[in-house]
Amino acid sequence: MSVHQEIKRVTTHRLTEMKQRGEKISMLTSYDYSMAKLVDEAGIDVILVGDSAANVMAGYETTLPITLDHMIYHGASVVRAVKRALVVVDLPFGSYQGNSREALNSAIRIMKETAADAVKLEGGAEIIESVNRILTAGIPVMGHLGLMPQSINKYGTYSVRAREKEEAEKLLQDAHLLEEAGCFSLVLEKIPAELGKKVAGELQIPVIGIGAGNGVDGQVLVIHDMLGMTQQFSPRFLRRYHNLATEIKGAVSNYIEDVKSLDFPNEKEQY
Ligand code: KIV
Repeated sequence: MSVHQEIKRVTTHRLTEMKQRGEKISMLTSYDYSMAKLVDEAGIDVILVGDSAANVMAGYETTLPITLDHMIYHGASVVRAVKRALVVVDLPFGSYQGNSREALNSAIRIMKETAADAVKLEGGAEIIESVNRILTAGIPVMGHLGLMPQSINKYGTYSVRAREKEEAEKLLQDAHLLEEAGCFSLVLEKIPAELGKKVAGELQIPVIGIGAGNGVDGQVLVIHDMLGMTQQFSPRFLRRYHNLATEIKGAVSNYIEDVKSLDFPNEKEQY
C-alpha cells in the first residue's frame, strides 16, 4: 500500500452494512501492542480486548479478578497498534452491574483512557439500565449473551447455555431488548447453533458467535486458543490454526542449546 493510500477504518456502521450484504465479520481478541499490530495488519474486522485477558494474560481461573485499570492498560496498548479494525473493550466484572452511574463512569474511563471504539457488557434485562445510560453518552455498546463467563459462579459450569426452552426464550427476549436499546452488535457464546441462527435472523444488528454455529453474522475466538498457545483448553467450538505452544517451546529450547554450546552468538552476531 502506498503512503498516500488511506486505510478505511472499520466502523459500527460498516459492520451493519456487512450483515446486510451477507459478508461475515471476523473478530479476534488481542491484549497487547505487538499481537494487535499483527492481527490488524492481517485484516481482521474487529479486535476485542476481552476480559479473557484475566485467563490468558494473567493466569487467573476466571475472568472475575481483572480490574478496570487492567482493562484500560490492555485496551490502550491495543489501540496504539491498530490502524483499521474496530476496537471493543470489555467492561470487567464489578464495573457496571451494580448501578448505571458506575457503569457510565467505567465506560467513560475506557473511552477516554484507551481511545477504543466501543465497550462490551455481559447480560440482558438485568443490566439494561446500565446499557441505556452508556448509550445515552454516545458510547457504542456490544452486548454479550449465552454463556457469560462473569457469571460462572451462578452457573457453576462452562457448559452450553440455553438448551432448555425457558432459557432460550429469555435469551431471544434479551437479544431484542439489547437491539431496541441501541446496541450495535451482539456476541452469543456457547449456545445451540439453531438458536444462534434464529437470533441472527430476527435481529438487524450483527450477531457474532463463539460456539454459536455458523448461522450467525460473524465469529470470534480468543487469539491464544486459535493460535494453539493454550493447550489444556479444547472446547468443541475451537479450531486451532497453529500449534504455537510447540513452536515456541522448540525455539526456546534451540536457543538454550545454542547458548550452552557457545554456538550463539557467532562472529557475525557480535561487535
Ligand atoms: O473476553 C472474551 O474474550 C470474550 C469472548 C470470548 C467473546 O468475551
